[in-house]
Amino acid sequence: MFLFYHMLAGAFLPFLILSGKWVSAENINFYNVRPPLDPTPFPNSFKCFTCDNAADNYNCNRWAEDRWCPESTQYCLTVHLFTDHGKSTSVTKKCATREECHFVGCHHHRESGHTECVSCCEGMICNVEIPTNHTNAVFAVLHARRTSAGSRRTVNVAVLVLVVMMVLS
Ligand SMILES: *[C@@H]1O[C@H](CO)[C@@H](O)[C@H](O)[C@H]1NC(C)=O
Repeated sequence: MFLFYHMLAGAFLPFLILSGKWVSAENINFYNVRPPLDPTPFPNSFKCFTCDNAADNYNCNRWAEDRWCPESTQYCLTVHLFTDHGKSTSVTKKCATREECHFVGCHHHRESGHTECVSCCEGMICNVEIPTNHTNAVFAVLHARRTSAGSRRTVNVAVLVLVVMMVLS
């Protein structure tokens, strides 16, 4: 099981909740709604996209293994190496400790013409994007993350309301 599919499943959950409101309850077979595949191994457990030296962000996320982070870690770390033209040459993502997250930011290596940006975030599968500049190569803790997750959910719900309306009309 890959994280990419895990996220797809998450995208459909609001649909089930929504359709429960819009369609009468007896049309829904709740036995088809599957519980989470794996129970959480310990309190506050989370997952990160994890890959080692992938060619770009797509190839990192696409093949990232769906696995819980070790209890000693609290954050998801992303290292992005790219050329002066902004083309990715390496993407590494992993679970990280607070100490490893002290090195967030971007550094330009003049000899190689490469820039390396490091970012950290807190929360379930929070390291979807890659850092590209000083604005996003930051250590984002849960409060900031909640805001962005909230707006993403709003977009999801808006799209799903549209789909439900199309189905019902
Ligand atoms: C940083 O990168 C993001 C995403 O690529 C972009 O939207 C933003 O404008 C950039 N910020 C700066 C200051 O270059």
